[in-house]
Amino acid sequence: MTDRYAVIGNPIEHSRSPQIHSAFARQTGEDISYGHILGGLDTFEDDAAGFFAAGGRGLNVTVPFKERAFALADSLSARASAAGAVNTLIADAQGVRGDNTDGIGLVRDLACNHLFGLAGARILLLGAGGAARGVLRPLLDEKPARLLIANRTASKAVALAGAAAGIGNVSGCGLDDLAGLSFDLIINATAAGLQAKVPDIPNDCLAEGGWTYDMLYSNEPTAFVDWGRAQGAARALDGLGMLVEQAAESFRLWRGVQPDTGPVIESLRAA
Ligand code: ATR
Repeated sequence: MTDRYAVIGNPIEHSRSPQIHSAFARQTGEDISYGHILGGLDTFEDDAAGFFAAGGRGLNVTVPFKERAFALADSLSARASAAGAVNTLIADAQGVRGDNTDGIGLVRDLACNHLFGLAGARILLLGAGGAARGVLRPLLDEKPARLLIANRTASKAVALAGAAAGIGNVSGCGLDDLAGLSFDLIINATAAGLQAKVPDIPNDCLAEGGWTYDMLYSNEPTAFVDWGRAQGAARALDGLGMLVEQAAESFRLWRGVQPDTGPVIESLRAA
């Protein structure tokens, strides 16, 4: 019997997850269907429960429900607990398990697809909301020389860094505190790009040969990709690879099969 999966969010119609998971299913021969669900802002929990009660096997969860998915899961992986958010729900005999594949998606895109050496790198992570929290622990696990979280509201960056203290060389500050500092990789995890804006950071904080990475993805170069190019970044990447890699990890959790992400990234880029 075909196993049912879906992505739930609000809005949801522009989600690429159905396309990505259908491509994984074709590639691996897994017998699944993958749809999308517009979650109600007042009814998300009931919508998710209804999907599982009707035999659904797994959900991807996207904006704005990741924290609510964290709260409704019967059990949590270590990385979901660290992220405080869930993007993958898995139905099993014990109930509904919550996991978070966003961080591993980012790390795999950088390290495996683009061969960026995270170990020993000086990393600046912009933003201290859910998106930044979701990738913080997996980035620290790669043992960068330092990871500085900078946020418009400095206190949030300091708090986020404080919660991860002891895992690596991590600290937090405001955007105004970046003058004179230099980084090998600057990751944009702010929501500024949704208004085609770039966080207000000094132009000279990207090291010679440094890379930029926008966790956002859009058909056109994002504002932060444009910023990276203007700074002379060796690579100015967007979040398409992360999107496909987080999906691949969800697929692996559900099906026990690792899809080949390269052709899927290429076909989405070409489209
Ligand atoms: P998400 O789940 O996408 O991280 P969020 O939790 O609302 O969403 O967090 C949004 C992040 O983007 C925050 O770090 C926010 O900074 P503040 O904490 O100061 O609000 C950041 N952000 C949003 N718009 C921004 C802008 N124009 N410039 C810089 N940072 C911005």
